[in-house]
Amino acid sequence: SAGPSSEYELYTLTTWLLKEEQKGTVTNELAVVISSIALACKQIGSLVTRAGVSNLTGLAGAANVQGEDQKKLDVVSNEVFCNCLRSSGRTGVIASEEEDLPVAVEETYSGNYVVVFDPLDGSSNIDAGISVGSIFGAYEPSEECRVEDMDDPEKMMQNCVLNVCQPGSSLVMAGYCLYSSSTVFVLTVKEGVFGFTYDSLVGEFVLTHPNMKVPESGKIYSFNEGNYATWEKGLQEYMDSLKTGGADGGKPYSARYIGSLVGDFHRTLLYGGIYGYPGDKRNVNGKLRLLYECAPMSLIMEQAGGKGTTGRERVLDICPEAVHQRVPLFVGSPKEVDYVESFLK
Ligand code: AHG
Ligand code: MN
Ligand code: MN
Ligand code: MN
Repeated sequence: SAGPSSEYELYTLTTWLLKEEQKGTVTNELAVVISSIALACKQIGSLVTRAGVSNLTGLAGAANVQGEDQKKLDVVSNEVFCNCLRSSGRTGVIASEEEDLPVAVEETYSGNYVVVFDPLDGSSNIDAGISVGSIFGAYEPSEECRVEDMDDPEKMMQNCVLNVCQPGSSLVMAGYCLYSSSTVFVLTVKEGVFGFTYDSLVGEFVLTHPNMKVPESGKIYSFNEGNYATWEKGLQEYMDSLKTGGADGGKPYSARYIGSLVGDFHRTLLYGGIYGYPGDKRNVNGKLRLLYECAPMSLIMEQAGGKGTTGRERVLDICPEAVHQRVPLFVGSPKEVDYVESFLK
């Protein structure tokens, strides 16, 4: 029922948040967190668009704790995200793909939300002007991350890790922003999935996709098939079967792979099909991180009527043991995820 009632009513993310607050699905604190993330995404969107002219392409010259070479925009986007979250005054702990460890936010005023994020996803695509994105999620604090403990750094750090290592099923909010031919902000507060498109004329995200639902099935697969030789037998058989039409036979599946999770996921959500980043012989848990990528995306897909699994268990049921933990991921249309699981379980 959400949506504009008059041709000239501008139904923005802010409007939507106010309505959700009135309904009681979003607390005032969480609405502030979401607004601050939206601001970070607007800033990152403009940095991405202008990267070539403002000398923001290429490497930063450092690696993150996971051993990935950081791009300049990885570092800048992380800073933008951290600054926006800090100044929201509603986050207690923040954890980023680009930081070694989760950190406590000293400026917290109220709310104490635990926010996890991948500030720039698909950064290997930036220099070619191909779609990238940001991914985020929020938890309620599991234990108070108290400012008084600040003088004991060891205790503080353990406390932060404890707060962050919660299963995806405890997320209270998740979303992503796609920076592509249009900038799209997709969000769930566990009452369905809503998509907002950035309107540069008014500088706001405008509701364009109310209550998004993934198609039941879809004949598109999105995997880095270059890794085929290193996959387990069951997964190879699954991949072979897609080329002869999958479960029902008939027309072969189409292959689509950008190499930007946010872009590949967004297409899967809209058109149906499956996105997969499986484990392989070298990396048994694949590449994607549970906290910043797999859990938020699985929550969004479930809220849209789809599924998210490692091939053996529901992603949202996994309790992280480490902040940068990786897990295999298969997300998409419910029938497609069931089909891949039938080869793996
Ligand atoms: P990030 O840029 O945040 O490190 O994530 C990259 C991820 C994800 O965006 C994408 O789906 C995947 O890496 C692509 O990996 P491959 O190049 O191995 O296919
Ligand atoms: Mn990275
Ligand atoms: Mn990523
Ligand atoms: Mn990233």
